[in-house]
Amino acid sequence: MVGQSRKVLFTRDRIAIEVKRLAEEISADYGDQEIMLVGVLKGSFLFIADLIREIKSPAVIDFVRLASYGSGTSTSGIIEFRKNLEMPIKDRHVIIVEDIIDSGYTLQSLYNKLLLQEPRSLKICTLIDKSARREVEINADYIGLSMDDGFIIGYGLDHDEKYRDLPDIYIVEEP
Ligand code: IMP
Ligand code: MG
Repeated sequence: MVGQSRKVLFTRDRIAIEVKRLAEEISADYGDQEIMLVGVLKGSFLFIADLIREIKSPAVIDFVRLASYGSGTSTSGIIEFRKNLEMPIKDRHVIIVEDIIDSGYTLQSLYNKLLLQEPRSLKICTLIDKSARREVEINADYIGLSMDDGFIIGYGLDHDEKYRDLPDIYIVEEP
């Protein structure tokens, strides 16, 4: 990230508070019914790991791998499915777990694909909502944190596959 600086946008403590709140909302909505969390790799790996440990309802987990970005910071709008689900979702209560919704293209294509497999219910949980950037009509049922424009890294989010390991979320600033 030559020539750029970064500033903390959401601390690990703030993230933990919001993850706990989301887990409480989800647990209250589903009660004793089993849910299936579908993590969108790679960005959601830390979020889903923290979330599933806070959810009280019985939960199983599976992953898909999607890619929309090259090495740039804006979407191509073309979504590539690199890994499909391993468990059937028919008649299950499914929650898609995303790191961030930006243009919305990624989630829209995943949502529509999963809907065809006839889940009992299908909801979306995102850690970050960048709603000002939305290009397609898709909204999350559970939202951790909201932000305006800007590119962020850390807590699973990458720039060119780097910085996923940072415990806090940073906004990348042009000099
Ligand atoms: P969308 O299809 O434009 O909504 O893009 C969503 C995907 O782009 C997310 O799952 C992220 O992987 C990636 N993305 C969007 N904004 C950011 C960001 O600020 N930092 C890192 N990755 C991002
Ligand atoms: Mg992602």
